[in-house]
Amino acid sequence: MKKFEVACMPGDGIGVEVVPEAMRVLEAVAKIHGGLMFSFDTFYWNCDYYVQHGRMMPEDGLDRLSQYDSVFLGAIGDVTKVPDHISVWESILTIRREFEQALNIRPAKIIQGVHSPLVNPKDFDLIVVRENSEGEYSTVGGKMYRGKDEIAVQNNFFSRRAMSEAMHYAFDLAKKRKGHVTSATKSNGIYHSMPFWDEVFQEVSTDYPHIQTDSQHIDALVAFFVTDPSRFDVIVASNLFGDILTDLGAGIMGSVGIAPAANINLNGKYPSMFEPVHGSAPDIAGKGIANPIGQIWTAKLMLDHFGETELGDLVMDAIEKVIQSGRTTKDIGGTLSTKEVTVEILSELNNY
Ligand code: NAD
Ligand code: IPM
Ligand code: MN
Repeated sequence: MKKFEVACMPGDGIGVEVVPEAMRVLEAVAKIHGGLMFSFDTFYWNCDYYVQHGRMMPEDGLDRLSQYDSVFLGAIGDVTKVPDHISVWESILTIRREFEQALNIRPAKIIQGVHSPLVNPKDFDLIVVRENSEGEYSTVGGKMYRGKDEIAVQNNFFSRRAMSEAMHYAFDLAKKRKGHVTSATKSNGIYHSMPFWDEVFQEVSTDYPHIQTDSQHIDALVAFFVTDPSRFDVIVASNLFGDILTDLGAGIMGSVGIAPAANINLNGKYPSMFEPVHGSAPDIAGKGIANPIGQIWTAKLMLDHFGETELGDLVMDAIEKVIQSGRTTKDIGGTLSTKEVTVEILSELNNY
């Protein structure tokens, strides 16, 4: 019997509603497989934990998580209890960094049956490879002076190593897809880091003579996302550009509630972490109407990561059937609750 040990962190808000649903789907596919099981340990390290303990995770939190095959996270964030930059830096961003999850892989494509604002939605099928450990997400800098003269300085940090790792991954991915990589840049306006980004992209591309490339300024690129998405296959982007691009992608997909993501550790030293693109959605938390599909599609990415791609495909197939037939939550035009959508996905899986 193959066994995968998964640390679940539901987090805050709708995280606690959607993570258990995705766990049910994982348990269902394990049953279909017959020779595989998941062992889940759940850690309630969230903003409530912070209120009680003054920190987002126990002191040995990272050590404990490092024992697992992967971390499966919902979302962190409840500003009524903890400021966002503290809750997120002490949990998600620390895990991404300490576990050397160099890349954030975020597929975005239109699923038939969903209402997309695009004219030609079928052309929208891409993967964003987001540099996940540095770039604009940095704690280097500080505040100075007071009153009217007060300033904040925020330093960005771009290393050849991290950029080239993300770019190589993007090129290798493109080989298995349509063979095209777009670099998201802003070297016209950002003086040091983005020309360096372009330079490394140029260098890495010479290792892949059969892959087509282009480089787009992020402002023009976002317009093409909407007006001509057929231009894109794999996009490699810095941490912040990748963050923004993937919420735009999610909007084009119909809802941020269905967009999946994977934080990948490439060196095998630490677990990877799987968490959807969306956040804790405080505006709908506790109502039972959050779309569980982002979390369930994220579970599919985890199955793929474990090498269980056939099971991953089964999950994707079930998601597509449920969306196509309109058995969805309100954000994508349906009337079902979080739990009812999962039941529909489970019943599709029961047909296999
Ligand atoms: P958000 O993604 O939580 O919500 C944006 C909008 O999308 C809201 O209207 C919300 O209701 C809707 N939405 C999100 N997920 C949905 C789902 N599954 N089904 C239906 N609708 C959904 O982004 P935000 O409002 O900017 O952030 C809220 C909190 O979440 C903040 O504290 C933020 O820091 C945090 N956050 C955490 C993560 C994470 O943990 N990975 C990601 C993004 C934001
Ligand atoms: C995401 C989130 C995080 C990010 C936040 C919560 C720091 O928006 O996973 O997309 O910006 O990476
Ligand atoms: Mn984001």
